[in-house]
Amino acid sequence: MPSISATAPAKVILLGEHAVVYNQPAIAFPVPDVRARVAILANPPGKPGTVEITSRQVQLQTSLDLLPTEHAFQRLFAAFQRETGLRQLPAMQVTISSEIPVAAGIGSGAAVSVALLKALGLFVGIKFSTTQLAAMAFEAEKAYHGNPSGIDNTVIACEKAVYYKKDEPITFLTLPSDFNLLIASSGIPAQTIATVNAVRARMEQSSVHTGAIIEQIGTLVRQARIYVETGNAASLGRACTQNQLLLMQLGVSTPELEKLVDAAINAGALGAKLTGGGGGGNILALVAPETQVKVMDALYKAGAERVLPTTVRKTTAYE
Ligand code: PMV
Repeated sequence: MPSISATAPAKVILLGEHAVVYNQPAIAFPVPDVRARVAILANPPGKPGTVEITSRQVQLQTSLDLLPTEHAFQRLFAAFQRETGLRQLPAMQVTISSEIPVAAGIGSGAAVSVALLKALGLFVGIKFSTTQLAAMAFEAEKAYHGNPSGIDNTVIACEKAVYYKKDEPITFLTLPSDFNLLIASSGIPAQTIATVNAVRARMEQSSVHTGAIIEQIGTLVRQARIYVETGNAASLGRACTQNQLLLMQLGVSTPELEKLVDAAINAGALGAKLTGGGGGGNILALVAPETQVKVMDALYKAGAERVLPTTVRKTTAYE
């Protein structure tokens, strides 16, 4: 019997991570060339409701019912059943194979969630809207770190550049030109839950100072939106670097990430910053096409474990 499969992309937060949790806007891009894939195979001899899940990437081989109710997959299947009104799941085998590094701040968890939900929809003959996918995937985001802003599941479900503010309608950005990014891994696992909690603790201890940093990030994001929409890569790069300075003040950067940021800027990047939760994970560098190779070399020399070049394509008239 053929299996049904679906995919979803990685993402990068261009500016505004952490501040987005506190109702400031953020800008995020999908990374369409790096994807999570979920395949579902019906298992007719299996008892209805039996769901076997395998993911080589995180060495998971389990039955859904053995996972705790708060586990991301339990939350996803529950959200799927609520959305479809399906009381009993058919017996199935779910295989997850993702190219997106885990704990890297580039949306691995949300991409697996969206790919799984798309595949489940196809499996039962439903094509979910992006709004439905984002809302269901949000349930799993809560399992990853208690207080998600919703930006990861949104940009990944929509697969478009987004200007995102919690509890407000999503704005899709129109890009008049391509933007070239390098995503460089520090090789150290990102600790999104730890950094989100650390920012919350900082907010509780010194709300005025921390609140002011969060506000400044918000102001930067509002300016950067104009640079994105006018294709002003040079100013956008400078805004990214300023955002990095504010993230350092928030305490979510690390010496390894800063070494990569400095290396990128010294080699001619238009700007660079950590991306995602921080505490490890990746940086992004905005580059002009002619400096891409030089910046990439500099990032490897500064200790990057892997450098992924990606182009955020200009919006066409058909989008
Ligand atoms: O590390 P990631 O890819 O999960 O990104 C987290 C972004 C934060 O702003 C730090 C948290 C959030 O929920 O928006």
